[in-house]
Amino acid sequence: QEVVKIRASLLRWYYENQRILPWRINQDEGKEEGGEDGREARAYAVWVSEVMLQQTRVLTVIDYYNRWMEKWPTVRHLAEASQEEVNEMWAGLGYYRRARFLLEGAKSIAEGGEFPTTVSSLRKVRGIGDYTAGAIASIAFKEVVPVVDGNVIRAISRLKAISANPKESTTVKSFWKLAGQLVDPSRPGDFNQALMELGATVCTPLSPSCSTCPISDQCHAMSVSRNCQTVQVTDF
Ligand code: ADE
Repeated sequence: QEVVKIRASLLRWYYENQRILPWRINQDEGKEEGGEDGREARAYAVWVSEVMLQQTRVLTVIDYYNRWMEKWPTVRHLAEASQEEVNEMWAGLGYYRRARFLLEGAKSIAEGGEFPTTVSSLRKVRGIGDYTAGAIASIAFKEVVPVVDGNVIRAISRLKAISANPKESTTVKSFWKLAGQLVDPSRPGDFNQALMELGATVCTPLSPSCSTCPISDQCHAMSVSRNCQTVQVTDF
């Protein structure tokens, strides 16, 4: 079955080729030592990194992320910070609204007592949208939910040879649905990161590296044209 092959190939590729990034340390499945604390630490790490990654390149984010985690190692430390401290730490990343939402979110989570563990409860935290909720729930808590960003839309649009305007909300909605059908039910967090990683490093906008792509055999853009670049994907 096609979807089974796609999951297996993509996960194997991810385990062999993923970039070593600070927020991926201790993400491993099965690493449950620390119990609740371990899961909360993982959720906080995913949250901070994904918010930073929303408008900023990975290479830039690494330093900011390490400095941030040194100063506020847990969500409870962050909840005690002032807006001025947070802005100072954020300086250079831009879109300060993201920093404000992180602080507000940390305060409400600290007040609530527990880190929300599902998309629906995460969505109630101010500043946490579908993307961030999906990332935290799947990566830290293994909820079987998709994550869709620009990279994922591009990769899936080629995989399924879909030409659509990614700026339209109906398009984005349809990709959430497609991604939800693809996500691996036993390793949702790794699968979602694998798809984002594929879009970021292989299935790139202009010169995709189809010869090294783990799912080129399943890629409809490849079989339609032998060259996924000819499939029009506006703005991605
Ligand atoms: N870009 C944003 N978040 C990412 C992630 N978790 N993995 C790979 N690329 C990403």
